[in-house]
Amino acid sequence: AGILVLQGPNLNLLGTREPHIYGSTTLADIEQRLQAQAAAAGFTLEQFQSNAEHELLNRIHAARTDGTAFIIINPAAFTHTSVALRDALAGVAIPFIEVHISNVHAREAFRQHSYLSDIAIGVIAGLGVQGYELALQAAVKRLQEQA
Ligand code: DQA
Repeated sequence: AGILVLQGPNLNLLGTREPHIYGSTTLADIEQRLQAQAAAAGFTLEQFQSNAEHELLNRIHAARTDGTAFIIINPAAFTHTSVALRDALAGVAIPFIEVHISNVHAREAFRQHSYLSDIAIGVIAGLGVQGYELALQAAVKRLQEQA
C-alpha cells in the first residue's frame, strides 16, 4: 500500500523560509527521511508539493485509483482558505492526518481555523518537521492493523 505526503503552497521554500518558525530542514530532507521510515515498515511513500490548489486537488483525485491507502497533508495556507481541498479529501474518502510544522494555535487568529481538521483522523501541530514522522508512524500502525 502507498502513503501519499501532500505539501501545500510555499513549502518548497522549507529550509530557507522563515527558519525561526519552520526550521532549516528542506522538503527533500523530509522526503528522504519519510521514504526510509516507510520502506522499513514495508510501505511505499511519495511526496507531492504544489503551490497550485488545482494541482493538489488533481493529485488527491488520482489517489483514489493509484493504490494510495493513506494521506499525510500539510495544506499550508490552504488549510485556512480551501473548501475545495476539504471537498476533495472528503470525496476520495482516503484517511488522512493533517500536519503543521508550527503551532498554528499560538499564531495569528486567521491560522486557528482549519477547513480540514474535523474530517482528519488526527492533527499534529507545533512539533516541527518531526510532526511528519509522527504522522507516518500513526499511519503505518493503522495500515498494519487493517491488514
Ligand atoms: C503551516 C501553517 C500555515 O498557517 C502556514 O500558512 C504554512 C505552514 C505549518 O506547517 O506550520 O504555510 O501549515
